[in-house]
Amino acid sequence: MLRFIRTHLALKVFLSYVIVILVGILVLATATSLSVPAAFDRHMAGMSAMMSGNNMTMPVVGNSQAVETDFFNEYQTSVTEALSLAAAVALIAATLASFLISRQIVGPVQRMMILSHRIAEGEYEERLKISGHLHSNQLDELDQLALTFNQMADKLEKTESMRRQLIGDVTHELRTPLAGIKGYMEGLMDGVLPATPETYQRVHSEAERLQRLVNDLQELSRVEAGSYHLKFVSVSPVALIETVTSHLNRQFEEKEIILEKKLDAELPYVFVDKDRILQVITNLVGNALQYTPTGGRVVITAAQEKSEILFSIKDTGIGISPDHLPFIFNRFYRTDQSRARLSGGSGIGLTIALALVKAHRGRIWVESAGEGKGSSFHFTLPLVTKHN
Ligand SMILES: Nc1ncnc2c1ncn2[C@@H]1O[C@H](COP(=O)(O)OP(=O)(O)OP(=O)(O)O)[C@@H](O)[C@H]1O
Ligand SMILES: [Mg+2]
Repeated sequence: MLRFIRTHLALKVFLSYVIVILVGILVLATATSLSVPAAFDRHMAGMSAMMSGNNMTMPVVGNSQAVETDFFNEYQTSVTEALSLAAAVALIAATLASFLISRQIVGPVQRMMILSHRIAEGEYEERLKISGHLHSNQLDELDQLALTFNQMADKLEKTESMRRQLIGDVTHELRTPLAGIKGYMEGLMDGVLPATPETYQRVHSEAERLQRLVNDLQELSRVEAGSYHLKFVSVSPVALIETVTSHLNRQFEEKEIILEKKLDAELPYVFVDKDRILQVITNLVGNALQYTPTGGRVVITAAQEKSEILFSIKDTGIGISPDHLPFIFNRFYRTDQSRARLSGGSGIGLTIALALVKAHRGRIWVESAGEGKGSSFHFTLPLVTKHN
């Protein structure tokens, strides 16, 4: 019962009114039982003194009308006096109750107003205090509003910090190729570097890196914002993998890495955006190719697991240490910044893969026994389709 009252603001306001009314009734009752007789006695005593002063001992019959009127007047005055006292006490009780209640309601609303102004000005740190117990469901409507307000502030703060982080990351990523191009051009202008096709080739490859980065960023922002349409079609998981491997086969042969496929030809079809899932598989197989040294092996499997298709890309490559594993899907994250820079990777491929798999209601994760021990990337796609 107490919890019910505590969690309902309207009930609290209603109860405060009831309390004020009860106080009024109580005061009135006390007044009638204590104050009215006392006041009446006092007035009666005054009246009889007046009468004895005038040598009017007992009222005579002819005078009884006047005495009755006096009697009534005195009674009325004493009731009015008692009622005035009761009204004063009830007023004080009402003022006190409304002060307490309004402090409970207006206080949080005012704090919310101040805080929303601060947030609008870019100060995201402060939060509203919540008076109820957060985890015991003892929050009234105002507490719940404060909780939602705090959650909104959390989200805004996170978005803002992500925005800042993104700007910082992008600036950092752009700086390296730009500095390269500038350095080569200065070398050419000063005559330190010879104006040979090799020098121009270096400038060109830095510009290409910039272009790739800009394209990746554009793709990332589109995918993360969800501003693209998925064109769902029914497609065989085997066909998806075959498409990717037929494109990358030559590169695997050139690097002398064995590419193995373990696919169940009877796998049910998946209902997905074909191009987007091809992009995911290409990113993962491309990484396996990139981060596996010559002589290694990459195995691609696809199998049905309950109501999903599980895709796995396992390699015998450089592996990922446990320190890096939790961050591997973060944008711009590379286990070895300098090596990745040389190989041209921008650390966006996995972030895009994550967003695309999520958009298909799938899951994506990585496993690795540690550096030099190979890695396995897995992702699932839900089976919501029929056999075609
Ligand atoms: N199969 C793998 N084996 C070892 N490390 C990997 C593997 N795949 C990814 N990584 C690590 O994760 C990082 C992020 O991969 P991601 O594909 O997002 O970026 P990238 O390959 O560096 O660049 P790009 O955006 O061009 O793909 C890589 O830089 C690499 O350090
Ligand atoms: Mg990659």
